[in-house]
Amino acid sequence: MRILITGGAGFIGSNLLHYWCEKHPEDRVVCLDKLTYAGHLESIRPLIDDGRIDFVRGDICISDDVLNAMRGADTVIHLAAESHVDRSIDRPDEFVRTNVLGTFTLLEEARRLDVRRFHHVSTDEVFGTLSLDSVRKFSERTRYNPRSPYAASKAASDHLVRSYGETYGMTITVSNCGNNFGPFQHPEKIIPRFVTLLKSGKNVPVYGDGLNVRDWIYVVDHCSALDAIVGRGKSGSTYVVSGRNELSNIELTRKILSIMNLGQDRIDYIGDRPGHDRRYALDDSKLRKELGWKPSMRLNDALKATVEWYLDNEWWWKGFGDSYSFSAKR
Ligand SMILES: NC(=O)c1ccc[n+]([C@@H]2O[C@H](COP(=O)([O-])OP(=O)(O)OC[C@H]3O[C@@H](n4cnc5c(N)ncnc54)[C@H](O)[C@@H]3O)[C@@H](O)[C@H]2O)c1
Repeated sequence: MRILITGGAGFIGSNLLHYWCEKHPEDRVVCLDKLTYAGHLESIRPLIDDGRIDFVRGDICISDDVLNAMRGADTVIHLAAESHVDRSIDRPDEFVRTNVLGTFTLLEEARRLDVRRFHHVSTDEVFGTLSLDSVRKFSERTRYNPRSPYAASKAASDHLVRSYGETYGMTITVSNCGNNFGPFQHPEKIIPRFVTLLKSGKNVPVYGDGLNVRDWIYVVDHCSALDAIVGRGKSGSTYVVSGRNELSNIELTRKILSIMNLGQDRIDYIGDRPGHDRRYALDDSKLRKELGWKPSMRLNDALKATVEWYLDNEWWWKGFGDSYSFSAKR
């Protein structure tokens, strides 16, 4: 396969590149990434230096950049995005540009170049929020109800991708995944942020009452789900991807503190995020039944390995300079 992965210098993209080069060494892989504040070339440096991938620096919103990277590819896995909800509240314009216009530009060039398959990586946030006392879960049949500019821009991009399947007969698939964790995640996101704050002797800020629940998955398991979908997913289909690990923010915080042998006095409760979704929970039985996928890591083991990775790889997160202090302002 000749495959183009967008956003490969970001968190999930870099994990996917490592995964893909290991599992499919026969494939030719190109990574297209603009290297925004969220992209970190060090995450994929060994793959570039060893010639296992070709790296193209470019913007998914610019047709010439996309053409340059996509020419010769038969498959596209699209991850490039603005991805941080807090930033989308302050700068929604960037989210509309990258997530909507960028996806549109990729689709147009994929159509022109007759790309064989286009997979779009999306989020569970498009579905909105569930209440804490409900037993409901989001599935492929759930109506979209995005509540932040980030979620709305991802929802728009999902619709665009599906429309290209219907209108132009493109072979497309979409996946909606829960919260990922693992190595190479930007230190503005909750797990690396908390570990790095605690390591620097600071307390961790928990939004509101800390009871907001997220559905967590180890990033390498997300990568294996993407592999299954790109390899065997039915054209036009959406797949919900879940690690089936529902955890409130305060439970997650306590787990991190316990792994680091620290006490609960290191928690500071702060004002809530505007429009903070209460609970996400996912029913991924379609993916498990249809494609036989299941995650390989257990939550506690994967979380411990992740915390230890950030403790051992200070050089990596220090490489972001000041950009990682963003969410401390809110
Ligand atoms: N992180 C999660 O928990 C999660 C969960 C579900 C879905 N997703 C989706 O997965 C994808 C990847 O998320 P992530 O957490 O790895 O994001 P990230 O912010 O870590 O990485 C995004 C990458 O995209 C690149 N990029 C941004 N704008 C670009 C542009 N205009 N042109 C080219 N490259 C550009 C950045 O440089 C960066 O390398 C996103 O589409 C996101 O919506 C993420």
